[in-house]
Amino acid sequence: MKKLGITLSSFIIDEQRKLGNKASGQFTGLLNDITIACKSIANLVNQGDLAGVLGATKSENAMGDVQKKMDLIANDLFIDALENNGHCAGMASEELDEILTLPEGKPRGKYLVTFDPLDGSSNMDINMDVGAIFSVLRAPADKENPTAEDFAQPGTEQVAAGYCLYGPSSMMVLTTGNGVNGFTLCSSIGEFILTHPHMEIPSDTSEYAINSSNQRFWEAPVQKYIEDCNQGEEGPLGKRYNMRWVAAMVGEIHRILCRGGVFLYPIDERNREVGGKLRLLYEGNPMAMIVEQAGGAANTGYGRIMEVQPNGDPHQRVPVIMGSKNEVEKILSYHAAD
Ligand code: F6P
Repeated sequence: MKKLGITLSSFIIDEQRKLGNKASGQFTGLLNDITIACKSIANLVNQGDLAGVLGATKSENAMGDVQKKMDLIANDLFIDALENNGHCAGMASEELDEILTLPEGKPRGKYLVTFDPLDGSSNMDINMDVGAIFSVLRAPADKENPTAEDFAQPGTEQVAAGYCLYGPSSMMVLTTGNGVNGFTLCSSIGEFILTHPHMEIPSDTSEYAINSSNQRFWEAPVQKYIEDCNQGEEGPLGKRYNMRWVAAMVGEIHRILCRGGVFLYPIDERNREVGGKLRLLYEGNPMAMIVEQAGGAANTGYGRIMEVQPNGDPHQRVPVIMGSKNEVEKILSYHAAD
């Protein structure tokens, strides 16, 4: 008989055991809450139109993006999973204008959670990859209700980060600061099973991911790097590059974790004033922690993403260059030379 394997729940409990008496079990409980939200979302995403979850709503989020039906459903599922169990003290979601404190009377936990409940949601209606991204921070010990400033912690303070990719199979990829592990959802028993232990990003690559339709707006170093990539063997980089664009960051980062690559959403002339396109708390920091923990690099072009000091706006944006270490360093040399 095929063995069951290591479930995500037993993996998390085992991690807790390693901490001996220092662990209260709250962190384990919190990750379990997040897992439940992701499983519920996976179930709806997999059913697609059969569950009536495709299409847009009439509302926009704080960043002015039209919200898809599934954005709001996934957001509610995260909140529902996190606000009832006493593991979390507050949440920040890409889909909410303000941070969320817990309703009166609900038990407070030691952690803050930030999440993008359905990253790449424009892929939902075309049955392509979407995902959830989350990050766990410590809540201030002395406050009943955390404020936006309490979420303004640099990415280096993250206790854990992860994503759940809803692709051909659903996968949870998680780091608690001790490497990166990937778990595949077995739909017949409803459990994530460890299938990708110790994920490591190859240091070298010849694959990049960038939305080329923005080319004319990119900053000069990125223009030059992509131009050099596209010259292939005859160009200064001396090799042929391949390009991929899933249009969901979760999909891009998962591919990079599996076979290497670089993902860029750089500063461009239209978003320079607001700092970039992707969000520091929901996308930049959690993905940077995962990528670095898997041996890759994550930079803005001007410094480590995880060292960016948040400005207190939960929707702060950041330029993103992340993936295979040597290739990220190559891109940084274009910035240094600019
Ligand atoms: O919300 C951000 C996001 O959907 C990312 O997941 C993705 O990488 C990017 O935006 C796609 O951007 P574009 O619309 O430029 O293809």
